[in-house]
Amino acid sequence: MSKNIINGKTLQMLREKIESGLLPQWVLSDPDMYELELEKIFGRTWQFLAHESELPEPGCFVTRWIVNDPVLVTKTKSGEIKAFLNSCTHRGTHLCAADYGKQKSFTCPYHGWTFNLEGKLIGVALGDKVYGEEMKKEEWDLRPIPKIGVYQGMIFGNLDPDAMPLEDYLGNMKWYFDILLARSDGGMEVKGVPQRWVVQANWKVTSENFEADPYHVQMTHRSAKELGIAPKDPFFPGYGHQVVLENGHGINVITADATGRSPFPFQGMPESMWPMFERNLTSEQLELMRNAIVFVGGVFPNLGFISFSAPPLEGETNIYNYLNFRVWRPLGPDKVEVWSWFTIDKAAPEEYKEKSYLSYLGTFGPSGILEQDDAEIWARIAQASGGLMARDKELSYNNVLNYLMGLDRVEPDETFPGPGVAYPICFLDAVSRNMHKYWLELLIKDHSIAEGVYR
Ligand code: FES
Ligand SMILES: [Fe+2]
Repeated sequence: MSKNIINGKTLQMLREKIESGLLPQWVLSDPDMYELELEKIFGRTWQFLAHESELPEPGCFVTRWIVNDPVLVTKTKSGEIKAFLNSCTHRGTHLCAADYGKQKSFTCPYHGWTFNLEGKLIGVALGDKVYGEEMKKEEWDLRPIPKIGVYQGMIFGNLDPDAMPLEDYLGNMKWYFDILLARSDGGMEVKGVPQRWVVQANWKVTSENFEADPYHVQMTHRSAKELGIAPKDPFFPGYGHQVVLENGHGINVITADATGRSPFPFQGMPESMWPMFERNLTSEQLELMRNAIVFVGGVFPNLGFISFSAPPLEGETNIYNYLNFRVWRPLGPDKVEVWSWFTIDKAAPEEYKEKSYLSYLGTFGPSGILEQDDAEIWARIAQASGGLMARDKELSYNNVLNYLMGLDRVEPDETFPGPGVAYPICFLDAVSRNMHKYWLELLIKDHSIAEGVYR
């Protein structure tokens, strides 16, 4: 339980500001807010751990994090996916220190206790001699992550034993995920390992950037325009639809221009794949996929994704599509470890996959040009939010940030074929406001801070 000093009055003030489209800046830097978020947000929401293609055979494992909880994900002999706290039940050190691999069992590097792929304690060094026969091994199995869920190959974990099922949590995001994950026979596959790097940023800033903010593209990524890999039109990528979904999720379905038709159907995927898309998607999903040039969005709180197409190398004009997932793992109020997965249709031609990986590296990989643009801006937000003026909880310096874009001015488009509340423009703060509302809802749910103060 956090000993924070964020009381009921503060939360009430936050609610009033958020309802009027404003966000007090101190929430981006405050250590007490961060502690509260760890407990109320990250301790209770579904967290992306891995894609099934990373665990192709029994015995395969990967090690991951749910913020500060180390997680070991395994594929058992019978092909089941399991996840445990990656901490030995003897004295607590990391049981498995490798990022990934294939093993029949895991032996702890400290005193040699051994656990199988199901998390069972199967060996205790010198067991009978030092513990006697009465020690019940089954009482010392690995601690399972309370909930595990899989949707279209995406493996999630949840630390809350009472959490709603993953499919309910994803809600209408499933419909959009199906376009991205289930359009091809065999689904998607992860290539390589997730890349990791650290940026100086608050996790809400990075999450919001992907889920809710196409508005920044015209300025932050202006160099992409100058290099000729993005349209010159300053309104790009405001064209298309921003869709507000339940539980704080959101997606932007971006089109090339106001006509809503794409100059390169199906994000430039090879024509040989189109009949497969037709087979696997509904006509509404197909229409969206044919016309959108970018899908970018997020699952609250910290899973971002982008389906993007770019040329793989300088001077090459053909574009190659890829799907990038990323977890913004908070390491503090002003630090995020980015975990970035490259995924591609399993059924795509091999040569296409290779070019597509290069497209990813050059754009949203750790040294990609679009990635670099963003990281610098996020760090400056963290710096500017740490000073006395921005941090003041009383808001005496009017330290509120502007989320007013489109508020009460843009009506949903009832003709949009997908579920959710879809607005006919992507330069809009509707998804951000939705994220903040859900964020606050979770913070005040089953209120346990400063007993009795919040009403
Ligand atoms: S800590 Fe693992 S065997 Fe002692
Ligand atoms: Fe960006």
